[in-house]
Amino acid sequence: MSNPSLLILPGDGIGQEVMAEVRRVIDWFGAKRDLQFDVSEDLVGGAAYDKHGVPLHDDTMAKAQEVDAVLLGAVGGPKYDDLDFSVKPERGLLRLRKEMDLFANLRPAQCFDALADFSSLKPELVAGLDIMIVRELTSGVYFGEPRGIHMEDNMRVGVNTQRYTEAEIERGARAAFELAMKRDKKLCSMEKANVMESGILWRDVVTEVHADYPEVELSHMYADNGAMQLVRAPKQFDVIYTDNLFGDILSDCAAMLTGSLGMLPSASLGSPMENGRPKAMYEPVHGSAPDITGQGKANPIACILSFAMALRYSFDQGEEATRLESAIEKVLADGVRTGDLLSDENSTAVSTSGMTDAILAALDASL
Ligand code: IPM
Ligand code: MG
Repeated sequence: MSNPSLLILPGDGIGQEVMAEVRRVIDWFGAKRDLQFDVSEDLVGGAAYDKHGVPLHDDTMAKAQEVDAVLLGAVGGPKYDDLDFSVKPERGLLRLRKEMDLFANLRPAQCFDALADFSSLKPELVAGLDIMIVRELTSGVYFGEPRGIHMEDNMRVGVNTQRYTEAEIERGARAAFELAMKRDKKLCSMEKANVMESGILWRDVVTEVHADYPEVELSHMYADNGAMQLVRAPKQFDVIYTDNLFGDILSDCAAMLTGSLGMLPSASLGSPMENGRPKAMYEPVHGSAPDITGQGKANPIACILSFAMALRYSFDQGEEATRLESAIEKVLADGVRTGDLLSDENSTAVSTSGMTDAILAALDASL
């Protein structure tokens, strides 16, 4: 049988630096755990624009459709701010999500014990925090038609459309309920049913799907209240299911609660392929961080944890994923820190590659 295939798209800025570290981790699993992957690499975002004049070449799109999983670094940077909307780096990312039909975006917000002090909230509110946000990723106002900027009565009008079919709401809800079943069996659905018809439908459909998951405790919240509850008492949540735009905002909020935006991974999953694996793309939640690019300062953990999610969700290697996550937890507990995680007298400051050195050493020690 051939090895599972991985397409690596480092993208822009620190995406390239952190992805180089992920490759070292992938190599470690090949050498020490006999988990071999066929790895190929290509361009996305500004890097693709520089070479091809588009943020994602058709050939790259085709490759992404064929591989078992895509690992993406980050896209964007000030150099591309003035580009036409249609070729902005972000469009490459959105095309991948849409054409691969990656409808379920899993964004864990987990607070590592060693980092509870870095949260902007009191440590006791976040210590042990472990939330999973499931964001619908291929529909809603990000993609709804009509959209555009047009003239009306001599005035410019900007239009975007929030649109959800019940099938779209349902498949994401099933992904969220399935996850809840494997966790604390609590699901909170967030929308604005008080002002939006799409929110009313959202609430109805999630309630209908609940009939198939009676063991899960389901609650509904308006998304604005959800934002407030996330900063008031985040530990009340286990799995949150919400739409594309609310999910974008709420997941940034939840991520920052952990004090470690530079630490959080994500998985974007679609329907199963012929080999039974879901279509999948994994990426860190952080961006391309142009301010620290090329200085060896970036924290590679979010991207490495994204590979751990790939091990778990694409390759059925839950134990190896846990091995990698535990190695990272140990390194943090030992006080190893990249610059984003302010050091105190008990911590050791390391560079991007120094962090990976420490993680690989902890992996070796796990054998
Ligand atoms: C995210 C990002 C993207 C989004 C951008 C880069 C298009 O903010 O993944 O959360 O808005 O979805
Ligand atoms: Mg975002």
